[in-house]
Amino acid sequence: MSGAGERKPRGGPRRAAAPPAEAGTEERITSPDRTEEDAAEATLRPQTLADFTGQQATRENLAVFIQAARDRGEALDHVLLHGPPGLGKTTLAQIVARELGVGFRATSGPILQRAGDLAAILTNLQPRDVLFVDEIHRLQPALEETLYPAMEDFQLDLIIGEGPAARTVRIDLPPFTLVGATTRSGLLAQPLRDRFGIPLRLQFYTPEELLRIVTRGAFKLGFALSEEGAWEIARRSRGTPRIAGRLLRRVRDFAAVGGVAADRTMVDGALTRLEVDAKGLDAMDRRYLRRIAVHHNGGPVGVETLAAALAESRDTLEDVIEPYLIQEGLVLRTPRGRMLGVTGWQHLGLSPPAGFAIQPDLLAGGES
Ligand SMILES: Nc1ncnc2c1ncn2[C@@H]1O[C@H](COP(=O)(O)OP(=O)(O)OP(=O)(O)O)[C@@H](O)[C@H]1O
Ligand SMILES: [Mg+2]
Repeated sequence: MSGAGERKPRGGPRRAAAPPAEAGTEERITSPDRTEEDAAEATLRPQTLADFTGQQATRENLAVFIQAARDRGEALDHVLLHGPPGLGKTTLAQIVARELGVGFRATSGPILQRAGDLAAILTNLQPRDVLFVDEIHRLQPALEETLYPAMEDFQLDLIIGEGPAARTVRIDLPPFTLVGATTRSGLLAQPLRDRFGIPLRLQFYTPEELLRIVTRGAFKLGFALSEEGAWEIARRSRGTPRIAGRLLRRVRDFAAVGGVAADRTMVDGALTRLEVDAKGLDAMDRRYLRRIAVHHNGGPVGVETLAAALAESRDTLEDVIEPYLIQEGLVLRTPRGRMLGVTGWQHLGLSPPAGFAIQPDLLAGGES
């Protein structure tokens, strides 16, 4: 079984929770979120743990746990993958099933509406199968509670009938591995989080790791890309393999249509045309940074205010736009709101207002 075909939500009307309001969102080439066009990324998706570049600690730990589970003939402990979009959560979930040599079933938090949906999936699993629940933070609370005994004791409590005639039936489930993926582990209920024996946090990739991914991708696509050209893509991919794959495919288009060799100059030209700047930021990222700089004197400014001004949802800012900007020190998250970091000012080519200083006490309070 492959995951790709199973991502589709079943049945139109039950498809819950539309994506966050995206007024004003033009298609962003550097959005780490999945788009229709990314169906092409299946070609570039690594199939084995050995093929999976980066995330070294995660990869090594998983290899050990998978080996141990295989040797014992047991289901692997439940795995929680968290991290920003496009870093390889779905890819890893599929790899885990493949390396375990078991079936892979995929669903997602917003698709599952009723306890019956979840029960149908759980009771159809084969022993040791992997059940992948994407966006698990969007699971309905009632379903979360159904999951607790299923995860802990491989038992399902179903309520049959209604009113006074209702009774509970306990069903034994085959032992299985739940692999949950989330961009927001903070939104997960603590009891649910506690039931994952193997929590793994994915990190942004280094340019060196992305270079390997881009080089492999170019090879798979049969695209003659110079090493310097590959570096240029790797450095400008926002630390995200999905973006690296997307930029690679677009650069290949420009090279093919222009009939030119894909060297550094060519790649730079193509990425500039795509409005991806030297740091890999796009127009939306720059709009975000400039908003804080120009309208709020560098901040602090609350995330809600920013979301309203940029006509983006708060979720999009927090899940998609900010993580990379924060990791790069362009933006700081303080208890009083977002502030532009020194590199943020530099990147915009602006100087901070006189007297602008990031007060240490603002940072001491941790994240808001
Ligand atoms: N370690 C990696 N090596 C090579 N390519 C990778 C790696 N991780 C991810 N990719 C590529 O990036 C694409 C996106 O990865 P994936 O769909 O697994 O991300 P995700 O974390 O599930 O994102 P989302 O949160 O949006 O669901 C994959 O199709 C694959 O082509
Ligand atoms: Mg995914």
